[in-house]
Amino acid sequence: MGSDNQHKIGILGSGKGSNFLAIQNSIRSGYLPASVEIVLSDVENAGILTIAQDHHIPHHFVNPGRFRSRLDESAEAECIRLLRESGVYWVVLAGFMRVLKGAFLEAFADRIVNIHPSLLPSFPGLHAWEQALDYRVKYTGVTVHLVDRGVDTGTILAQHPVPVMDDDTSLTLHQRIQQAEWQLYPRVLKNLVTGRYSVRGRNAVLKEDHFQA
Ligand code: GAR
Repeated sequence: MGSDNQHKIGILGSGKGSNFLAIQNSIRSGYLPASVEIVLSDVENAGILTIAQDHHIPHHFVNPGRFRSRLDESAEAECIRLLRESGVYWVVLAGFMRVLKGAFLEAFADRIVNIHPSLLPSFPGLHAWEQALDYRVKYTGVTVHLVDRGVDTGTILAQHPVPVMDDDTSLTLHQRIQQAEWQLYPRVLKNLVTGRYSVRGRNAVLKEDHFQA
């Protein structure tokens, strides 16, 4: 890692975009030395695109094609083209609900980051907070990880625990997890874009955590 566009981020999301908003707010406050160059969504009316519009950030709906859980080849190629044209170094998944496949992973090898609403490797996949509630764990949490070919299996960069209360519903637990997400994602991105991570295989070591400063 040692590139002059390391501070340039592209965001992919399918939902309301609260993680993107937290990232954007961290940039505007001066905490996160980065810039969001482009926002892409596979959902035409996703809130994340509206937030991008409100913040005057280039944004596009990319029709995902015929598959439910991944992008088809032309959608993938379109995403790669748009991200490359915008000059981003990091691809940040913020509630993106499709699995990325070979061509995409190769185009941005070791530069794709995801946030997942559980303490991986527990509860990968969809609705992780509901999985945690069903299992009746006492703690779940948030994981930020690099993206590899598996589903939520990439090298873990950071995690934060979140307690599960006896009276939690799916809604209250996800809300508590999201509050942790809004803290953790900007912090990890700050350490990534400033080159503080040393990653060797599954071992991601933080040389110096700005959050402690
Ligand atoms: C977040 O909780 C994120 O962790 C989750 O989707 C939500 C998106 O919220 N992602 C996944 O479950 C990925 N498998 P947001 O649109 O408000 O950022």
